[in-house]
Amino acid sequence: MNSALFGVDGKTVLISGAGGGIGRAMVQTFREAGANVIGADRDESLLEGLDLAGQVLFDQANPKATRASIERYLAAHGAPDAVVANAGFTRAELLEQLDDDVWADEMAINLGGAYALTDPIIAAMAARGSGSLVFISSVNGLSHYGNPAYAAAKAGLIAYSKAIAVERGRHGVRANVICPGSVRTPAWDHRLVNDPSVLDNVLPHYPLGRMVVPAEVANAAVFFCSDASSGITGTVLPVDAGLMAGNLRFVDDVLRGK
Ligand SMILES: NC(=O)c1ccc[n+]([C@@H]2O[C@H](COP(=O)([O-])OP(=O)(O)OC[C@H]3O[C@@H](n4cnc5c(N)ncnc54)[C@H](O)[C@@H]3O)[C@@H](O)[C@H]2O)c1
Repeated sequence: MNSALFGVDGKTVLISGAGGGIGRAMVQTFREAGANVIGADRDESLLEGLDLAGQVLFDQANPKATRASIERYLAAHGAPDAVVANAGFTRAELLEQLDDDVWADEMAINLGGAYALTDPIIAAMAARGSGSLVFISSVNGLSHYGNPAYAAAKAGLIAYSKAIAVERGRHGVRANVICPGSVRTPAWDHRLVNDPSVLDNVLPHYPLGRMVVPAEVANAAVFFCSDASSGITGTVLPVDAGLMAGNLRFVDDVLRGK
């Protein structure tokens, strides 16, 4: 077995949401695995301190601006070897916090923007005959844990990724999805402001007895961008400390009578 297969040495990998909690761990992990990383985010200040070979700036809620920035990048540099579509956002926790505008915003950032980001890159990858895409969805896209508009968008990423896998596979383009469980990143800050003990309430749901950490999500993304996964496309991988395996709370509360 050639262990170099599991790295991304010399590959160019574009990571969106590079300045966020998972994004920063992605940049570091991909650098350690040998990649040249292009960081994408809303503005330059978010990318400060990252070891990047380049950057692309856009507001992913605006599909025209997103597509235009990516097309400028492609015209100058050509298609990256891989993309991790990682940018995401949610605030509307429950159905009663939704209205048409909130629904449209969360769909735009999480689904429409991911399409606008990846569509021109996929065309360039297909013309070259190779490329790997990784979409950072969520366990919310697999089962209901709140955040309904975000969840619908994250489920949409799974369908979109499968479309790419099926329709662009003959052109050498692969697409896979990672569904993280709860990860302590700045995305949780607003919940901690409301309830400083919220993370204690999260833990009893997770079979591993802990949340996953950003580097664990990044490790799975490296695998999907590496040649070790060359036969894998159209899949959905939870990185969720076992949440999707079953209902630990039911086992503990009902069957063990804790
Ligand atoms: N943290 C979790 O518990 C968790 C769980 C499952 C899935 N996820 C997903 O993982 C990904 C990374 O999340 P995170 O926890 O690192 O969150 P984060 O808030 O720390 O980072 C999100 C990143 O996305 C960028 N972003 C947000 N809106 C944008 C926009 N309109 N245009 C461009 N960029 C924008 C932010 O600037 C930031 O860099 C997201 O897609 C999120 O949905 C997170």
